[in-house]
Amino acid sequence: MLEGDAESRSGDLLKMKTSFRMDRERAKEILAQVEAAANAAKSPADARKQVVKVLNQVPNYNWVGIYLVKPPELRLDAWSGPAATVHTTIPIGKGVCGFAAKSARTEIVSDVSKDPRYLECFANTKSEIVVPIQHQGKLVGEIDIDSDELNAYSSVDREFLEAVASKIAKFSV
Ligand code: SME
Repeated sequence: MLEGDAESRSGDLLKMKTSFRMDRERAKEILAQVEAAANAAKSPADARKQVVKVLNQVPNYNWVGIYLVKPPELRLDAWSGPAATVHTTIPIGKGVCGFAAKSARTEIVSDVSKDPRYLECFANTKSEIVVPIQHQGKLVGEIDIDSDELNAYSSVDREFLEAVASKIAKFSV
């Protein structure tokens, strides 16, 4: 029993070591891809679709969505991932998404099972990042990303996704 526990612990450690983590070099490349995809799009709605597709290619960005602000709620606009979410509208102030909308600040949840605000979309989600999109000082939407791994997102993801949000702000109004 003890040996089994030790084995599974070292298995977890191995998994942690081999997990993808965003770095600044990679972030710069993907930001350029995001910008190119948005600029080549046929319309603002198409730009948002292309951007979630590009972001979903990052290994630990397992589900990527853009919500737009339609007071008093957030409405799911574009998404890319293995499955649709039931949370297509979220009241501002509810869930991690609604909380980030209310405060207009990025939220990183390293373990969703420990955050009472969390609204579950997918049983396999372990961590989440939500980044507000602001245009001319006004909140217009947000980027919501779920990971199947615990503690998937760092300050590098935050900086990267805040840069993405400012690039796509003009496509989100
Ligand atoms: N988890 C979010 C809801 C959106 S789904 O992750 C797509 C929340 O707590 O607001």
